[in-house]
Parts: sequence; structure tokens; C-alpha cells
Amino acid sequence: MAIYAIWNNKGGVGKSYLTFQLASEYALQHPNKKVLVVDLCPQANSSSMLLGGMDSGERHLNDIHGQQPRLTISGYIDDRIRSPYVPTNSGASYITQVSRYNNRVPDNVYLVVGDEKLELQSSQVSRATNPGPNDAWRIVHLWITDLIVDIKRSWNEEDCCVFIDCNPSFSIYTELALTAAERLLIPFSADGSSKRAIKAVLSLVYGQRRQVGDMQSEFYLESNRYNMSLPEIYMYIGNRLTQMNNSSASAFKTVVNEISEEIYSVWQSSNTPFCIHPFGANRPTNKKTFKSMFQFEVNDANTASVVSGSLGIPISVLTAGSKQVAGVTITVNQSQLDRQVPNLKELVQYIE
Ligand SMILES: Nc1ncnc2c1ncn2[C@@H]1O[C@H](COP(=O)(O)OP(=O)(O)O)[C@@H](O)[C@H]1O
Ligand SMILES: [Mg+2]
Repeated sequence: MAIYAIWNNKGGVGKSYLTFQLASEYALQHPNKKVLVVDLCPQANSSSMLLGGMDSGERHLNDIHGQQPRLTISGYIDDRIRSPYVPTNSGASYITQVSRYNNRVPDNVYLVVGDEKLELQSSQVSRATNPGPNDAWRIVHLWITDLIVDIKRSWNEEDCCVFIDCNPSFSIYTELALTAAERLLIPFSADGSSKRAIKAVLSLVYGQRRQVGDMQSEFYLESNRYNMSLPEIYMYIGNRLTQMNNSSASAFKTVVNEISEEIYSVWQSSNTPFCIHPFGANRPTNKKTFKSMFQFEVNDANTASVVSGSLGIPISVLTAGSKQVAGVTITVNQSQLDRQVPNLKELVQYIE
């Protein structure tokens, strides 16, 4: 079990949706394990889905944001702004058991609730990295690592699975998430700008130069300077693909192939870290084995995903039939569920 960041340098690719589905489904498949979601995105979309979706989830989110002390990621960040260089050991006070608010999500899912206040705090977080003690950058980048350590310690359990939902931009919080994460899941959608976004991920996190002489990110350079490990690429996930005969339709296929070529060439030509999985598997020796280890495709769930996200019902718990979403009746077809549920279950089986 590991710490996964879900990030791509692009919005709307399904980071939050997949965080919600992965955490819920992983928890269902492993009822004796604890699952933690850390919502590091100021938009708090995965928190909203987990807490019950568009209607009740948003209401719970507002209630939680209105409480004092503020039991959200921002509450923890405030602690750390007050004590940037000395761990506060306070992380465990900021977790919420999701099923207290939304009984459609299994009892073993816990959440550090996302918070729009992160935006207001970000300049203070950045300021804490410099000036400060000599290794201020390193210490501040460990804040989310510390948070997770605090939570695991309070559970007396090393053995839990953590998903960190990130915002699209390469913000200070994305950096903190990537430092805390052991593995990276990169969702992308099959549109023209996806390749550019993936290249940005490879360059910002792993220092891949697009052109000779290109500058490398401070994150990459400082992580190296302090000998801090970067997350290993675990999977790149084509999401919302329209499926025909079980493989992406040809227009989508072209984009997926281009992205796959890009990542494969990085695998071949650099020492960018990839996570060989499942545990004990052999290193891929050719493109085919590379793809079967690192590439995954999630199809477009159409109405089922709208209802799942809007009502906060994980897709494998959702049933077919008429549902009320914001006063409108929407029908979920069994055929959509029959495609999406095995697809997501399979993805979760790769998570270890
Ligand atoms: N596999 C999917 N099938 C259908 N809709 C999806 C799928 N994945 C994501 N979506 C929808 O796409 C939109 C963007 O997803 P979201 O997770 O918010 O993206 P991000 O977090 O990357 O900005 C949301 O409305 C979400 O419900
Ligand atoms: Mg999001």
C-alpha cells in the first residue's frame, strides 16, 4: 500500500473523479484497510463528491468550512504556517470519516477535507520556503509528508492506502503533494492539448528538457539538491475515452498512442523513475510490455458518472434506474454500469 498523487498539469482530465472512484472502490475491495484521501485542490471537488455530491456534499463542505477550529487541509496548513520548521504532530486532528456524512461511501474512507482557503494561504506557504533556515525549502516541502505520518501514527497503522488529489497548476501544494507521494497516477483526456500537458508533467517533475538548454524547474533541482525522492510514475490513464469494441475509438486512439510514445521514449532514454508493478513483476522489455504495465484506459461513463459524482455514490454501488439530481430526473442505464464498473474495478486491482 502506498501514497499516490493524482496529477496532470491540466484541468478537467478526471483527477477528482478518479480520486473519488479509486478511494471508494479500493475501500470496498479492502474492507480491513484504511483509505485516506488528502484533498489538496482548493476547488475541493473530490471532497464534495465524497461528502455526498452536488447537493448534500456541498452543504456538508460549507458546514465543515464554517466550523471553528477549521477541520480541513487549511486548518493543518495554518498550523504549519505558524510552525513552519518544527513538526506540529497535529495532522490527525484534521481527518473526517466520510461515512459520517455520506453512508454510500464505505466506513474505511477518511478524508482531509479540501478548502478554498488554500488559495489565500499559498503565498504564506511559499514565503516559508525562503528566507528561513538553510534547508527551509526541504522542511516546508515535507509538510504533507508530516501530515500523513501523523495520521498513520494515530491509526497505529503503516498499512493504509493514500490518494492525494491535486489541482491542475504546478502550485506550491502540487509540489508538497509530489514530495509526499511515492507514486504518480497521471490521468489525461484524449484531446489535442493532452500531449502538451503530459510533456509539462515530465519536465516540471522529472526535469525532462523539451529542447537543449531549457531551464529545469526549481522543484526538480531542489529535490535533487536535498536528495528527496520523486514519485515514481505508476500509470498514465486515458480517461473518458469513447469505447468501441473494447478499445478506444480511432480518434481517441491516436491521442492515446501519441502520449504513450512520449512516455515510452522517456522510459527508454532517461532515468525517470517508474514503479514496476505488480510487486515482483519483471521490467518491461519492449513497448508492448511497457504499455500493459503503465497504460490504462477508462471509458466515458456518460450519465452514470454524472449521477455518481452529483449524488456521491461510488460507481460500483450505483444502481440503474431513475435518479433525482438537483430536481431533475436522470436515468442510469444498466449497460453503462456494465461497462464502467468492471473497468474501474480492474483499475483498482492494479493499485497496491
Ligand atoms: N470516466 C468518466 N466518464 C464520464 N465523465 C467523467 C469521467 N471522468 C471524469 N468525468 C467528468 O469530467 C469532469 C471533469 O472531471 P474532474 O475529475 O473534475 O477533472 P479534474 O479534477 O482533472 O479537473 C467532471 O464533470 C467529471 O464528472
Ligand atoms: Mg479536480
